[in-house]
Amino acid sequence: MGNTVPMGHSRTHQTRLIMPSDTNHHKSIFGGQVLRYIDEIAALAAMKHSNGEVVTASIDSVDFVSSAYAGDVLELDAVVTSTGRSSMEVYVRVTCLDIKSGAERLTTESFVIMVAVDEEGKPREVAGVYPETETDRRLFETGPMRREYRQMKRQMGPR
Ligand SMILES: CC(C)(COP(=O)(O)OP(=O)(O)OC[C@H]1O[C@@H](n2cnc3c(N)ncnc32)[C@H](O)[C@@H]1OP(=O)(O)O)[C@@H](O)C(=O)NCCC(=O)NCCS
Repeated sequence: MGNTVPMGHSRTHQTRLIMPSDTNHHKSIFGGQVLRYIDEIAALAAMKHSNGEVVTASIDSVDFVSSAYAGDVLELDAVVTSTGRSSMEVYVRVTCLDIKSGAERLTTESFVIMVAVDEEGKPREVAGVYPETETDRRLFETGPMRREYRQMKRQMGPR
């Protein structure tokens, strides 16, 4: 494709209210539910960037650094941070807001690899990205290192 677009083009924000049905017997949200939200917002950011369909190729390890409970609000932010030929690395940050106190804390952050696909599900080429803010620049510049690390892990994996 050859062209590049600003990271801001893919930036996506979502707000979720945690309902009792999203929580386990400790009354905190299921990790799998947070993963679903991460997958969805990463797909939206990648679809915006690539102007079409995408599939999830991989999700980097996800560490849950704090819990969230029914009635809390989850704020999710996603942005495409680097690209390959057809793959896009999407950074997702999840914070939890206690509506009553206004306190906000990090729940988790992760990188998701989305691949742009055509009507037959075959990988298709995507545009590159360029950063516009200092935070975006840090994410952009460290992208190649993470890509190399993932490739190394795949080579070491069971397949
Ligand atoms: C992801 C998928 C499209 C890759 O197709 P493929 O025929 O293996 O194509 P390629 O080997 O050319 O890989 C395409 C790109 O995906 C990347 N990729 C594939 N698997 C990856 C993985 N596990 N982790 C990171 N990147 C991956 C490749 O590095 C390549 O990137 P690039 O084009 O930017 O260089 C294909 O494996 C697929 O459809 N998987 C199922 C996706 C799905 O259904 N997800 C929902 C959950 S089940």
